Amino acid sequence: MCGIVGYIGHRDTRDVVVSGLAKLEYRGYDSAGIALLSKNQIEVVKSVGRLANLEQKLMTEDIDGEIGIGHTRWATHGRPSDDNAHPHQDCSGRFALVHNGIVENYLSLREELIEKGHQFKSETDTEVVVHLVEELYNGDLFSTMVQVGKHIHGAYALVVMAKDNPEEIIAMRKASPLIVGLGEGENFVASDIPAILEYTRRVLILDDGEMAVVRREGVDSFTLDGNPITKDVLEVHWDAVAAERGGYEHFMLKEIHEQPKAIRDTLRGRLETDLKRVALPELQLGAQFVQEMDRIHIVACGTSWHAGLVGKAVLEQLVRIPVEVDVASEYRYRNPVDTENTLVIVISQSGETADTLAALRDAKARGRKVMAITNVVGSSVDREADDVIITQAGPEIAVASTKAYTTQLVSLYLLAIYFAQERDTVQQSVVQDLLQELDALPQVAEQVLDSAPQIEAFAKQYSDAHDTFFIGRGLDFSVALEGALKLKEISYIHAEAYAAGELKHGTLALITKGVPVIGIATQPHLYEKTLSNIQEVKARDAFILGLTWVGNEDLQKTADEVIYLPKIHTLLAPIATVIPLQLLAYYAAVARDNDVDKPRNLAKSVTVE
Ligand code: M6R
Repeated sequence: MCGIVGYIGHRDTRDVVVSGLAKLEYRGYDSAGIALLSKNQIEVVKSVGRLANLEQKLMTEDIDGEIGIGHTRWATHGRPSDDNAHPHQDCSGRFALVHNGIVENYLSLREELIEKGHQFKSETDTEVVVHLVEELYNGDLFSTMVQVGKHIHGAYALVVMAKDNPEEIIAMRKASPLIVGLGEGENFVASDIPAILEYTRRVLILDDGEMAVVRREGVDSFTLDGNPITKDVLEVHWDAVAAERGGYEHFMLKEIHEQPKAIRDTLRGRLETDLKRVALPELQLGAQFVQEMDRIHIVACGTSWHAGLVGKAVLEQLVRIPVEVDVASEYRYRNPVDTENTLVIVISQSGETADTLAALRDAKARGRKVMAITNVVGSSVDREADDVIITQAGPEIAVASTKAYTTQLVSLYLLAIYFAQERDTVQQSVVQDLLQELDALPQVAEQVLDSAPQIEAFAKQYSDAHDTFFIGRGLDFSVALEGALKLKEISYIHAEAYAAGELKHGTLALITKGVPVIGIATQPHLYEKTLSNIQEVKARDAFILGLTWVGNEDLQKTADEVIYLPKIHTLLAPIATVIPLQLLAYYAAVARDNDVDKPRNLAKSVTVE
């Protein structure tokens, strides 16, 4: 997720572009840059770090422009650096281009372009696009971009300008957001509405597969094939702050709702097109290590640790390899038993959590191979691990982790299936079933989000509870732990997660009349057992919210309320079950008037031990 701004008009272009980027920093903030076109010359200024670094640099640059584009980056390919920051230019400096998304076929395109003599300055997927523009340029930027669109696969919002064409900016979109702001004698392009709200409230939302030619005096819209289309103008009524959160009241709610896209982005390019194999070309573990690997240690904190617990179950099930999961602050001091064929996997959204980083260093010092699953390219964990899988959740702003968790799960599923296919531990038909279901996960997440009103009503009713219990077995227990953490973290309601069968060994004493219990029952082989545990708490007069698949109608006889989830593969259930629990925590915190995005005593990234 990156932020894009483009401007053509009568104002100070540099100011408009930079102030637009400032409004989009929530979309990415590891580097930024602008390109200004003046007197047939394109000037580009870029800087690693937050936008303030770029602004600092611009203070000493005497540049201006008639049109301009800018970008604030959240790295997906190539770590944050001046060179990898956008805008990117072709060999001749004739074009400048910014991009948000992932060009899936960039490696093959890069090879082809290098063979044709193009010289690359960055490690990004984006740079291939601007060289492709140079390669295919036919004197007309619009028709060239139509051709460019035919060569690139993946997701993109692209904005491009050419030095011999100071009268237009071309914007095109496939699976990454892009809007056009309409002014008087001026027009704007941006990834999101907040960037342009200061200047106009009239907006065209480009849909997937559309492009626009943006000039001072007007905007023409087309399909990516270059056929003209007519678009409705949207009048925006949000205030600027609400617009930054996409109209949602809090970043957490926005991020919960972004999960279908985050899951889709994390899967992108990793499921081979016929859905028969997982492709993880970024891994350098080596075939021999994958075969000889004899155990896996997963190390993480908080929500990432909960993702690790799901990972253990899935890896053990599919790869038949022993997996241990440790909280990083414990792992560091417990002198783990491992071998030279142990793979250590650290999971960290931020890639900067002190305990996780120390565990990584500790494992490396013992000569272990370390793989990281992280959301932040260029983070310490990314730089120091031997191998990295980047989750494509985009920046997570709310302290309570939501989309990072589901994309960590997706990464662990991909990894487990990858190991299983390489070590031949499951039948091809099982792999294919799983891949088909993985591919459908974004739609499943969409459907589950429809349960929001039911959850909101429940959360309001129980927001004054003192204690809550989350129970489940197997994978449902791992998700129960995450649901309880979410609730504690932002609603400040005491919550405990219990393996449902363990309840009668002590905790059942706390279940009294009206205590809310969230009973999760999605695992078919454990369903009957979980149901009887739910009956046990019902017998103590608890108030029960059940979560199960559509079709398990009998849960209704015991539970006071049931959230029915679309039925998916048992191993993938945590993706569906966690979303209602995130919503439950969110609505309970809102009902208690808490600071949802910045809960008390907590920081987004814990960089001290
Ligand atoms: O950035 P990390 O994934 O390493 O962070 C780990 C935990 O601090 C984090 O997951 C924390 O538990 C969340 N705030 C939970 O919502």
